[in-house]
Amino acid sequence: MKKKRRINYFRLFIFLIILIGLIAGGVFLVKEFIIKKDDNHFIQEQKKDNNNEIKKSPLKDLNYSDDDIKIINDSLSEEHINYLVENKIKSEDIIPIVKETYYIDYYLKDYLSYKKENPSKENNLIVQAVNTHINYPFYTHIEDTDESLGKFVLLNKYYKASESYKANDLIAVSSEYHLYGSNFELSKECYEAFLEMYNDAKEAGYGFKINSPYRSYQTQVGLYNKYASTDGKEMADTYSARAGHSEHQTGYAFDIRDFPYTNPDYSKTKSFTWVSKNAYKYGFILRFPKGKEYITGYQYESWHYRYVGKEAAKYIYDHDLTFEEYYEYFVKFKNPRNLK
Ligand code: DAL
Ligand code: ZN
Repeated sequence: MKKKRRINYFRLFIFLIILIGLIAGGVFLVKEFIIKKDDNHFIQEQKKDNNNEIKKSPLKDLNYSDDDIKIINDSLSEEHINYLVENKIKSEDIIPIVKETYYIDYYLKDYLSYKKENPSKENNLIVQAVNTHINYPFYTHIEDTDESLGKFVLLNKYYKASESYKANDLIAVSSEYHLYGSNFELSKECYEAFLEMYNDAKEAGYGFKINSPYRSYQTQVGLYNKYASTDGKEMADTYSARAGHSEHQTGYAFDIRDFPYTNPDYSKTKSFTWVSKNAYKYGFILRFPKGKEYITGYQYESWHYRYVGKEAAKYIYDHDLTFEEYYEYFVKFKNPRNLK
């Protein structure tokens, strides 16, 4: 009798386990079904909303196609859509601009007026010019830069810093890493990245040292005035920043020279070959590249590097951008299209 009762308990136990398994499986399947159904329902509803929006769009009266209206609805604010309607802007005048990768909706009216003034200019150059402000002459339309941005502070011929501005983590650069002079300072973050790059370059057989690091507003006043009095202002502006506009004031930029010294033109040195190919891996960009003088406002400077962090430096290097272009789209306007 006792034995028989034990076998029954065992069977009951197995039965319960199977039952619990079946119930759990069932609940899971029902839940999945409900979620999927909800998702599908949501997607269908959204499609319906989008289709309705396209059907109802006032841009239909201006002969915008459904695809054009979808692009516009995805990228423009309501206020800007109304602007297109009120001003009867033709789709062919705006769609190619909106399709540009670095389109920033804030600048819609500026793109349109710059395109009107320059009808034969390519759309990527229209967007590039407006985004970087070069649709205005250098040193006009100057804004106060956002000094709280650390390694992303932009100083150029359109953005200026106050007299007192400097990185808040400046530290002394050891004399091992710089040439003549004393009291060399850099932002700690930039200095640490520099040391990493310096050591790897050394291991690979390449050498360089810093010959100009952080410079205060007052130092830049003296430098620029010296150059302007010898070469004239117009010439000086091609290679030296006016005080408040030099990114040396950030503490995130420095000039280098090869060491041992082989050539006054750094771009002709072996050291440059290594640095120009590898700097981005440490978070540095060549700040004033060849061919981009019309944006940066300065002659090509093979010796001037700027710390922006590894992610930004890689994007800038891979996409052949200037810091001006990166800053406006990714920093100031916070990557509106979520570009990777
Ligand atoms: N040479 C660079 C442009 C400066 O003066 O900051
Ligand atoms: Zn420099």
